[in-house]
Formats: sequence, structure tokens, C-alpha cells
Amino acid sequence: MGTSMNYRNSLKLTLTFSTIISLLVRVVPCTGNEPVVKKVGDKAELGHCNNDKAITNSVVMWEIHRGGKKPQTVFEKYPLDGGRVGIFRNDYGELLLEIKNVREADAGRYKCMTGTTGNMTIHKDIELIVQFGPKLPWESKNLTLHEGETGELWCNASGIPIPTIKWSRKSRDYNDTEMGISGNIVWIPNITRYAKDTYKCQASNEFGSDEGFINVDVSFPAELEVFEEELQGVNGVTNVEMACAVTANPMVNIVWYKGNETNPIQGNNWQYNEQTDDNMKEEYYTTLSILKIVLPLDDAHFDTYYCKAKNDSGHVIALKAINLARRP
Ligand SMILES: *[C@@H]1O[C@H](CO)[C@@H](O)[C@H](O)[C@H]1NC(C)=O
Ligand SMILES: *[C@@H]1O[C@H](CO)[C@@H](O)[C@H](O)[C@H]1NC(C)=O
Ligand SMILES: *[C@@H]1O[C@H](CO)[C@@H](O)[C@H](O)[C@H]1NC(C)=O
Ligand SMILES: *[C@@H]1O[C@H](CO)[C@@H](O)[C@H](O)[C@H]1NC(C)=O
Ligand SMILES: *[C@@H]1O[C@H](CO)[C@@H](O)[C@H](O)[C@H]1NC(C)=O
Ligand SMILES: *[C@@H]1O[C@H](CO)[C@@H](O)[C@H](O)[C@H]1NC(C)=O
Ligand SMILES: *[C@@H]1O[C@H](CO)[C@@H](O)[C@H](O)[C@H]1NC(C)=O
Repeated sequence: MGTSMNYRNSLKLTLTFSTIISLLVRVVPCTGNEPVVKKVGDKAELGHCNNDKAITNSVVMWEIHRGGKKPQTVFEKYPLDGGRVGIFRNDYGELLLEIKNVREADAGRYKCMTGTTGNMTIHKDIELIVQFGPKLPWESKNLTLHEGETGELWCNASGIPIPTIKWSRKSRDYNDTEMGISGNIVWIPNITRYAKDTYKCQASNEFGSDEGFINVDVSFPAELEVFEEELQGVNGVTNVEMACAVTANPMVNIVWYKGNETNPIQGNNWQYNEQTDDNMKEEYYTTLSILKIVLPLDDAHFDTYYCKAKNDSGHVIALKAINLARRP
């Protein structure tokens, strides 16, 4: 998660900073400090952290370590962000660091030190935790997997406290059905074509929720099916039909051949009529192709017919034979 990563980074920065300080400066043990928890839009006041009047020219400095960024410093005379982050004196004469209209990016470590240049003492070391509603870095995404692979659906939402995730799938058969899976990953080992669907993940915490959609497509090689491998006819019969169903994703082209002829049968020529029915395609990736012999059967028609599946570069990737025999 991005956020926990930020914390790790800021911790790293803290360590680096402490190391440098210990080399430059007489080390004074840090006072333990409670983390401050705020939500986006709140006002945060950290401190107090007062100057030691006994030291001439002593100043108060807050050093801000926000996730992954270069540390920034704030002095009484030099606020940040046009005054959004600055040091002010409250009614009791204490100096506080005030952050108006807290933002997500304000999360980090805030250290107050006083003293003179080269001889500063750390008085406060406070972690500011900023709470906010979940956010996904995308609204929808497409994922194509090959049948048999392991599918990994990730839903990495930011948000503090860490959001809970709910998954559901949306297809015709699973009308927004909850999957009973929580956590930021859905793991689909040995994925099948029936897992093609739109999956929704919903991330929520007490400050809001966000949702994302993953369109999963599952590809698999062409499978051909003929309804009869052997047909019988007699001379003079008309409208003999042969049917071939192709199941594939992505869909392939179906081409019919007669016998060992190298040229395919052209659809809708004077002898043959070829039609495809895409009705089933959407749901089951199936296309039905029907070859109809429209002339009355004669000797030349009794032969073996081939239904071949070709991919977009014209390679035959599967075929089935149908034998049209003369009835004895
Ligand atoms: C650093 O400041 C402390 C007071 O906070 C003082 O006692 C000490 O002498 C100073 N050290 C140096 C090297 O100036
Ligand atoms: C996902 O695929 C659909 C249809 O193929 C396309 O319109 C859309 O732009 C794609 N979305 C992304 C995030 O690539
Ligand atoms: C989601 O976060 C996990 C760590 O929590 C990380 O391993 C994974 O790669 C991330 N996935 C995506 C798609 O960002
Ligand atoms: C799917 O859910 C919506 C809204 O809950 C409902 O209107 C629709 O009839 C449902 N469809 C099916 C096929 O169950
Ligand atoms: C994947 O699923 C197929 C079909 O259900 C099955 O034949 C195969 O053994 C499975 N493979 C693994 C590694 O589980
Ligand atoms: C097809 O096969 C037949 C015999 O089965 C043969 O006589 C004919 O020459 C072949 N034609 C082609 C184009 O190979
Ligand atoms: C078609 O199939 C051939 C042989 O399997 C393969 O090399 C080629 O990449 C495929 N083309 C497409 C567009 O899938």
C-alpha cells in the first residue's frame, strides 16, 4: 500500500536525519511523543515547543518529514504554504505548530528543535497520522488471461484506516453477486473461460468508499464441433446442410473446403450457401457456421467437406471433417 510505504519512507528519513544530527550536534534524548491523528480538512496543533530564553539567539524550528519528500523547515518568521503551516503563540504564550486544513500529504513526522545554528536540541518528535477515505488509482481496467493461467485481481486502495475490501462479480449469471472474498487480492488458479466477467472491488473505511472495476477476459484456442460427421444423401436431394460450431476467444474465421481442393468454398456461390450465426457469440464465444448445398445433389457433391478455423493471419488452427456419402 502506498500509504504504509510512505510511513516506511518517513521512518527511513527519520533514521537518516537522526544519524546526521548525532554527528553534528550534542545529542539530547528525544522526549517521547504521542502520535496525533487528524482527518483531512481538520486543523492540527502540534507542540508546544518553546524557546529557551537562557540561550542567546535561540530559535524554534520545526522540521517536517513528509513521506518520500525532502524535509522542510518552518521558523516563526517563515511559515509554509502561504501560512497554512506555521508557528504561532497561543493564549498561554506557548509556541505551537499549526496546520490548517490538513491534507493527506501532511502525514509524516514533525520534529521541533530549538537552539542556535549547529547546536539544536530536539524537543518534540511527533507523528501526524492523516485519516482519509479510500481511493483507487484506477476506475476500471482490462485484464486478459489465458485459460489455465492463474488470475490475480488486485485492488490496492489507499485510505487510513486501511480500508476493508469487498468483491463482487457482475455478469448475467452473477448479477452483482458478492463473492464473499475480502482482502486486496482475488486469486483465481487455473482460470477457465467462465471466469470472464466484470469484477468489482469496493474499498471502504469510516471516511468513505471507492470502487473499481476489472474486466477479465479469458482467451482460449479454437474448438470445433460438427453435429454429424457422416451425412447420407441421394442424387436429386436439395438443401443439404452441414453445421460446424466454433468456440474460441478471440473468435476465429470459419472457412469451408470440399475434398482436397485448395481453394475454399465461397459463400453464396451458385452451389453453396454459407451462413454464420453469431447469436451465441457474446455469451459463449461460439459461432455457428452452416454450409448448405443448394443444387440438387449429383455425383460431384459426394465428398468430404472440411470446416476449418483460421486465425487472423490465415493459419488453420483447427479443422473437422464431414463426410457426405451416397446412401447405399
Ligand atoms: C549547545 O547548547 C547548549 C545549551 O542548549 C550549551 O550548553 C552548549 O554549550 C552548546 N554547545 C556548543 C558547542 O555551543
Ligand atoms: C477496456 O476495453 C474496452 C473495450 O475493449 C475499451 O473500450 C476500454 O477503453 C478499455 N479500458 C482500459 C482502461 O484500457
Ligand atoms: C498491490 O500491493 C501489493 C502489496 O501490498 C503488491 O505486491 C502488488 O504488486 C500491488 N498490485 C498492484 C496491481 O499494484
Ligand atoms: C440484476 O439486479 C438488478 C438490480 O438489483 C435487477 O433490476 C435485475 O432484474 C437483476 N437481473 C437479473 C438477471 O437478476
Ligand atoms: C486446470 O483445469 C483443467 C480443467 O478443469 C484440469 O484438467 C487441469 O488439471 C487443471 N490444472 C491444474 C494445474 O489444476
Ligand atoms: C484430390 O484427390 C483426388 C483423389 O482422391 C485426386 O484425383 C485429385 O487429383 C486431387 N486433387 C488435388 C487438387 O490434389
Ligand atoms: C495464427 O496462428 C499461427 C500458428 O499457430 C501463429 O503463429 C500466429 O501468431 C497466429 N496469428 C494470430 C493473429 O493469432
